[in-house]
Amino acid sequence: MKNIKMVDLKGLMNRIKPQIDNAIDRVLQSERFIGGEEVEEFAKELGDTMCGPHEKSKVFVIPCANGTDAIQIALMALGIGPGDEVITTNFTFISTVEVISILGATPVLVDVCETTFNIDCDAVEQVITDKTKAIIPVHLFGQCADLGRLMELSTRFDIPIVEDNAQSLLSTYCDGKGVSGASGLFGVFGTTSFFPSKNLGCLGDGGALFTRDQVLALKAKSISNHGGSKRYEHEVLGINSRLDSIQAAILRVKLPHLKSFIAKRQEAASKYDELLNDVEGVEIPVRSEKSTHVFHQYTLKISGGVRDELAQGLADDGIPTGIYYPKGIHEQKAFSSLGYKKGDFPISEKLSETVLSLPMHTELSDAQQNYIVERLVSRLSELRELSALRETHKMTGQK
Ligand SMILES: Cc1ncc(COP(=O)(O)O)c(C=O)c1O
Repeated sequence: MKNIKMVDLKGLMNRIKPQIDNAIDRVLQSERFIGGEEVEEFAKELGDTMCGPHEKSKVFVIPCANGTDAIQIALMALGIGPGDEVITTNFTFISTVEVISILGATPVLVDVCETTFNIDCDAVEQVITDKTKAIIPVHLFGQCADLGRLMELSTRFDIPIVEDNAQSLLSTYCDGKGVSGASGLFGVFGTTSFFPSKNLGCLGDGGALFTRDQVLALKAKSISNHGGSKRYEHEVLGINSRLDSIQAAILRVKLPHLKSFIAKRQEAASKYDELLNDVEGVEIPVRSEKSTHVFHQYTLKISGGVRDELAQGLADDGIPTGIYYPKGIHEQKAFSSLGYKKGDFPISEKLSETVLSLPMHTELSDAQQNYIVERLVSRLSELRELSALRETHKMTGQK
C-alpha cells in the first residue's frame, strides 16, 4: 500500500484549502504581518475553546513564535534564573529542558510512570528543595500528567507549575475527587506549540502561553515583545517571540475543526487498540484513568528486544514509524554537565528501547490501518522465529 504517512498534512490541508487561501489573502490585503487583529482574535478564540462556554474565569492567551519560547517566556515571567532549580521529566522533547539551562537555572530531572509515560509525582516530591522555583510537567503524547497530585505539591510547597502542553491541547483532567479541567489551565502558566505536526498545527512555527493571572499575562506579553508594552519603551528584558499574522489566520481556520480532528485521532486509536490488543509482544497505549487522550501520538511498547528491527521491517513495507524518544535527556551530550549517568532513570531508559509510535493523523483510512497492523503482526512473528532460532544456535554452539 502506497503513501502511508506518519502525519498527513497535505491530506488535511487539501480539505480546508479554500478557507486557508482566503485567510492568507486576508492577511496579504491587510498588510499587517506581525501582531494585529488576526493574532488578537486567534488568542480570544483559543481561550474560548479551551474554557468552554460556561466557564466564568477568564483565560489570557499570549501567542508567541513557538512552543519552546512559550516555556522560556513563562520561566522568565516567573523570574527564574541562575541559582534556581526547575524540576521536569527526563522523557520529553529537548525544548522543555533546554530553556531552563538557557536561563542559567538548573534542570532537575525525574523519571516517568511506566504506563502513561508522564512525570512520576512521587519522584518530583523527593527532589524538591529550597531552590526549586518551578515544576514543568509535560502532558506527553496526548494525555495529562497527574495534575491533581502536582497541584497538591504546588500548594504544599508553594512552587508554581508550568504545564508543557505542546502535545495535549484540549485534553481534560478529572481525578474523580473534584479536581478537573482543561490541560494547560491548572498551572500558573500552560504552554503549547503549533508546530505543523501538532494536533493544532500552523504552516510554520507558532506557540502560545495560557494563564489566568492578569499580571503574569501582561508580563509574558511584554517579554514576548522585547520587554515593552509601548514602542521603544522597554521595562524588562525580553525576547522577540511573536506569532506571525499569517500563522494566526491559518490557525483561526483550523481551530473550529480541532475537536473533530481529535475525534478522528481517537477513532483511529480505538481501531488500532482493537486490532493490536491481543498481539503477543505488543503493549497498546495505557489510558490514564484521570485524563482524556487526544492522541498526538499512538505509542506502543514492543518487548523482546526487537523494536528496531521491527521499525526497519515496517519501513521496508512502506510504513513510517517514530521513536519518541530514543534517549532520555540525561543521555544527551548537551546535558552531560548535569552529572546524571546511565541507570539514573531506569523507566525512561527502558521506554527509549521499547517505544514505537505508529502513523497517527486525521486522514488515516481503515484500509491503511489494517495494512499497518497486518504487516506489524507478520514482521513480529518473523522476528520471534528468528530470535528463537538464534537462541537454539547459541545453545548448540552453532554459527
Ligand atoms: C513536549 C514538547 N515541548 C515543547 C515543544 C517545542 O515546541 P516548538 O517546536 O514549537 O518550539 C515540543 C515540540 O515538539 C514538544 O513536543
